[in-house]
Amino acid sequence: MIKVLGSAFLLSTNNTSYAMRVLPTGQLEHLYYGQRIEADKEEDLLVLSEKHAFPLGNQIAYDEESSYSLENMRLEYSGYGKGDFREPLVELVFPDHTFTTDFLFDYATYNKEKKPLHTLPSSHGECDHLYIRLKERNHDVDLILDYYIYEEDVITRTTKIINHMKEDLIVERAMSLCLDFEDDQFEFITFNGGWADEMHKHIHNLSSAKIVNASCMGTSSSRAQNFVMLSRFAKEDEGEVYGFNLIYSGNHKEVVEVSSTHKTRIVTGINNEQFSYCLKSEEVFEAPEAIMGYSYAGFNGLSNIFHRFVNEHIIKKEWAYKERPILINSWEAMYFNVNEKRILSLAKEASEMGIELFVLDDGWFKGRADDTRGLGDWEVDRKKLPKGLDHLSRKIHKMGMKFGIWVEPEMTNENSDYYREHPDWVIKIDGQMQSLGRHQYVIDLSNDEVVDDMISRMTALFSSCQIDYVKWDMNRVMSDVFSTCRKGEVFHRYICGLYRMMDTLTLRFPHILFEGCASGGNRFDLGILCYFPQIWASDNTDSWCRFDIQNSYSYGYPQSTFTNHVSGVPNHQTLRVTPLALRFHVAAFGLLGYEVNLLDLSKKEKEDIKQQIIIYKKQRALFQFGNMYRIDMGWMAVDEKRSHAVGMLFKPINELSKKTVVFKCKGLDPLKRYHFYNQKMTFDIKEMGSLINTASPIHIKQGSLSHRVISKFVHLQGEEENYYASGSLLMNAGVFLKQGFSATGFNEDVRFDPDFFSRLYFIEESAL
Ligand code: DGJ
Repeated sequence: MIKVLGSAFLLSTNNTSYAMRVLPTGQLEHLYYGQRIEADKEEDLLVLSEKHAFPLGNQIAYDEESSYSLENMRLEYSGYGKGDFREPLVELVFPDHTFTTDFLFDYATYNKEKKPLHTLPSSHGECDHLYIRLKERNHDVDLILDYYIYEEDVITRTTKIINHMKEDLIVERAMSLCLDFEDDQFEFITFNGGWADEMHKHIHNLSSAKIVNASCMGTSSSRAQNFVMLSRFAKEDEGEVYGFNLIYSGNHKEVVEVSSTHKTRIVTGINNEQFSYCLKSEEVFEAPEAIMGYSYAGFNGLSNIFHRFVNEHIIKKEWAYKERPILINSWEAMYFNVNEKRILSLAKEASEMGIELFVLDDGWFKGRADDTRGLGDWEVDRKKLPKGLDHLSRKIHKMGMKFGIWVEPEMTNENSDYYREHPDWVIKIDGQMQSLGRHQYVIDLSNDEVVDDMISRMTALFSSCQIDYVKWDMNRVMSDVFSTCRKGEVFHRYICGLYRMMDTLTLRFPHILFEGCASGGNRFDLGILCYFPQIWASDNTDSWCRFDIQNSYSYGYPQSTFTNHVSGVPNHQTLRVTPLALRFHVAAFGLLGYEVNLLDLSKKEKEDIKQQIIIYKKQRALFQFGNMYRIDMGWMAVDEKRSHAVGMLFKPINELSKKTVVFKCKGLDPLKRYHFYNQKMTFDIKEMGSLINTASPIHIKQGSLSHRVISKFVHLQGEEENYYASGSLLMNAGVFLKQGFSATGFNEDVRFDPDFFSRLYFIEESAL
């Protein structure tokens, strides 16, 4: 809802409000963002305006009449040169070489239209739209601020710069969002990491030094996730949290700065380092759309808001809430060593277990013996697959499974026909030694001809047989950056080229389920999600690491956007051995896949996987789309009606000093009654080691043939939890679970909980 009250604007969602007004000097003053407020008159909102009689000390007065300095105001727009020395929203260099900007209010209107951006992806769906035009006082340049108000507690912003001058305008910075708070009582939360090590949550205390979260690698990157939060020292379920994200997949920057008068500013947008854009007469520069959310119900509250927003307003309509198949991926099962025989045996085993999609990962195309060659040549390798992809796809479909393939359309190896034909189509500096990543070049998507050509190649490939799924990988970041376009435009034009390619192909092949990937989560952002509904979250499939990685993604992204695979042990990234149950329990909260040679597994493991698949299929809607809550060492997913839920508990280490373990539910209806029960499990008797002798009439040597034979027939029975209680009891008090194993005895009333213990609990509405 939008209210225009004199010179003030009040924007409200179901539970939040955002207010601003035009200052007498023409700038836009930010008045408020937080819990919903009501106001019917301009005077009501003026309560929230800054009251200054004189600028402080050596601050710059905007003009001789005004009683304030811009440095000490909360502003919707800020630039260099008029006394505000904080991080600005825009920086421009005019043809007269001046770089002071002074944008003043000119015009505003509102409607219910969600306008797409022309060069970048953006959110979609029903919302209110406030359009504000500011004009630069001394040059014919407009700054357009669009605000989109989604009733589900999200407000988005875009910034556009329009050059009405005859001469070129140099845009040195065009950020998307600038938000000022009156105080500095916040923690700034960022998610940083590296390859296979994504999403470490960092909590920064604010000080007058700037905190910068940024990427300059050409991708949004695993080094600094676009999603950040400002919290007023909140907890998971209480306290005020502001969340910010950017619909962009390239270099980005989020800066938090506390001013000398203790105001906090956050600015988000394209990273202005390595950025400089020449805007010709009458051209428009569009900055990416920025997302803001606010909750006073802690981090889980904010997550719920962002999850809903992503599912409803970012993911393409045809994929939103559409259940995704369980897949088997060939990568960790065979790496480059794929051939028809191996693929079909793995596919057969997978289909017998209930898996629904076979994904042929890297290695299937011409000359791809290893990662030094072949990229760019998107034709099947006839030595590995003599009868081609079409034949393979038919065979797999006959087994009752869908068929998917891996591509990396943004890259080429020097050792490829593509590179030999088009050595000038890659990002590199001619005549210099090039630093490569994974032996490959990034192809130059800032060049339209290159983009058009790759669209044709991908179109031919995707039309060559029945392909239901595509994993779109991107395995290096940028170095030695040089292209035919202006230096400061390469990174941004690359991303625009990428979006054009993704847009064309996803429209051309709407039935294909596309999955984004960049060596795992090196480009996990809302820009990609506007085209591809899901992303491979990390190359790290170790369930212990993965728990943290997924847990962190869940702060800003719904679990339906990240794919997780159960892989083999020892894990290929960490060499850690974790139980199959934990690998499944962690992977199940999101989009489930398997990435292991199923043929090599034991009978018990195969049976366990069959059971996992039955459980996942039964609860798929909950695992993929349920409202997700982070609980103490675990997660819960609850359906919209609050009648079904699934919970997961994870304890990495068994501590002998046993604490009572209480499973506290979240998200249920306090007034409903529920049946709470666990996934009944059995365990390999070998996991008890020589303790077996405390129950055996004859001595059994650990690891001996008799130990192995007994383990085939005798399994340890896991504990059973089975209770009926109200939602209020399950949430406020919780279920006191059975005693955990602690050396003094074991029977069916004891929870078998060695290191890396995990359990699933089911909670269903009940009349009992
Ligand atoms: C990196 C991806 O993240 C992996 O899953 C796999 O697809 C390899 N690339 C293949 O080269």
